[in-house]
Amino acid sequence: MKKLLELMSEQFEKAFSDCGYDKKYAKVTVSNRPDLCEYQCNGAMAAAKEYKKAPFVIAEEITAKLTDNAMFEMVEMVKPGFINIVISQSFLAVYAEEMIAAEKLGFVHSENPKTIVVDYGGANVAKPLHVGHLRPAIIGESIKRLCRFVGDTVIGDVHLGDWGLQMGLIIEQLHSEHPELPYFDENYIGDFPSEPPFTIDELEKIYPAASARSKEDAAFKELAHTATLKLQEGYAPYRALWQHILNVSVADLQKNYKRLNVSFDLWKGESDAEPYIPDMIKRLIQSGLAYESQGALIIDVEKENDTKTIPPCIIRKSDGASLYATSDLATMIQRTQDYHPQEVIYVADNRQDMHFTQIFRVAEKAEICPDTKLIFLGFGTMNGKDGRPFKTRDGGVMRLEELIASICAAVYDKIMENRTVSEEEAKEVSEIVGLAALKYGDLSNQASKDYMFDIERFASFEGNTGPYILYTIVRIKSILEKYESSGQVLSAEDEHINPVQTEAEKALIMEAVRFNSMIESAYSELAPHKICAYVYDLSNAFNKFYHETSIIGETDKKRQAGFIVLLKLIKRILETSIDLLGLSAPERM
Ligand code: ARG
Repeated sequence: MKKLLELMSEQFEKAFSDCGYDKKYAKVTVSNRPDLCEYQCNGAMAAAKEYKKAPFVIAEEITAKLTDNAMFEMVEMVKPGFINIVISQSFLAVYAEEMIAAEKLGFVHSENPKTIVVDYGGANVAKPLHVGHLRPAIIGESIKRLCRFVGDTVIGDVHLGDWGLQMGLIIEQLHSEHPELPYFDENYIGDFPSEPPFTIDELEKIYPAASARSKEDAAFKELAHTATLKLQEGYAPYRALWQHILNVSVADLQKNYKRLNVSFDLWKGESDAEPYIPDMIKRLIQSGLAYESQGALIIDVEKENDTKTIPPCIIRKSDGASLYATSDLATMIQRTQDYHPQEVIYVADNRQDMHFTQIFRVAEKAEICPDTKLIFLGFGTMNGKDGRPFKTRDGGVMRLEELIASICAAVYDKIMENRTVSEEEAKEVSEIVGLAALKYGDLSNQASKDYMFDIERFASFEGNTGPYILYTIVRIKSILEKYESSGQVLSAEDEHINPVQTEAEKALIMEAVRFNSMIESAYSELAPHKICAYVYDLSNAFNKFYHETSIIGETDKKRQAGFIVLLKLIKRILETSIDLLGLSAPERM
């Protein structure tokens, strides 16, 4: 289906052409003066310069051509030369009916479908998921769903951090805690145990201990570096141990991501790029891009008009170990070979901006993936009320599980205040609604900005919050249920949108028909917050309509059926939209 603004612009284009003007001036936009009109076309103002006429003269000619057009209720010239537009109700109704009949609510991709890799989540093996992993997971999940809805082939990859220094730290820490393990016996021959030498709880304690120790104990850190290098070079005992670390940790990560309703198509990690590294480094040296500096292998990436210093990208350390940048570059090669993506979208913390600038520049210089557009979608920090990165009360980093539990508890209290459901149901529902509160609280902010985590606000059933949106959907569900349980069924000829009778009804339909252009702009800007802003507007429009309209009490059965058709459409739009945010609505709340 064409978007509403396109359809209107087409009518204006015809009018402009018929009057002898270039149709490039015919663009119709949403009115920035909603008190005066719904849509507007300002093209006569610009055309006036080219055709050396007063703008109002042109605008009058255009409006004369369009006053009888069934698409518009009003097309009016306003001096000095604006054209104000009110759309016709019957046209709106027909458009809404077409949305109902169409797949994907009539959305059509305006470009050729692409293959996109979304690199998000970015958990690190053997480190518990903490609040810092919330944003990449939920923003990335939404981007993945949005691109997929639009029609692209999307591959979501968690890109685990499983190859860096943290692995060496864990190995060395284990070494000192359990020197008796066969992995540390250089003379051990035979198979390594198939059972991991630790549980997830034990594993999660090892990394923090090792990390703290490495800050004080230089010798220990050195050992960890060596262990990392040995692992990367393929030393069998460490590979075997590493495989255990990976297995135990991934099982736990999968459980936690599932809890967030986040799912990846690929569970690849930095280590999967390892086979591509030697060859890549060889080529980088041969092409003259990479050179040695103080023992390390580096590539210059600064550009002439840089406003800040962009240091060279280090691709191999002096001890021969590879780094974060190395595995990211090698991953580009692997992804190009395996998926030929037109785009790779990296969802990562803004603070990694420099890293991505460097590796994108290396990729460009070395033509690592010349047919792939590399996009860094950087997100801001989740702050606490003190304006500093969110911490637990005692100043520690909060585990994601804990954060989710606390917001679900807040929602549970709210649900129990209303006391419309049993305690047991409230528990279940608060899990769904709590998650929505958390995710929506995050996604409703522009991703690149910092935001404040405010449990009270996020869990509120009023205002621009997840629970408010879900509550609106639940309200619609309950009206539909009432209608059906009164024994009424919509017949084929009932499937119509009513001729509009009230302002609120029109406002609601106007919001509904905006869905397609909203999706288009959320997609082209990779901006889930635009979906949030939209569902909030649509929910507000619905609730206003609901308060002013007696739906179940409507005695004109035909009109009532029209309301039901409209409600079903609104429900479908809201559900489709929140699914793109990774949320779902309960039956009751
Ligand atoms: N594991 C990384 C971290 O915790 C994030 C990974 C982001 N993705 C990437 N391809 N570098 O910082």
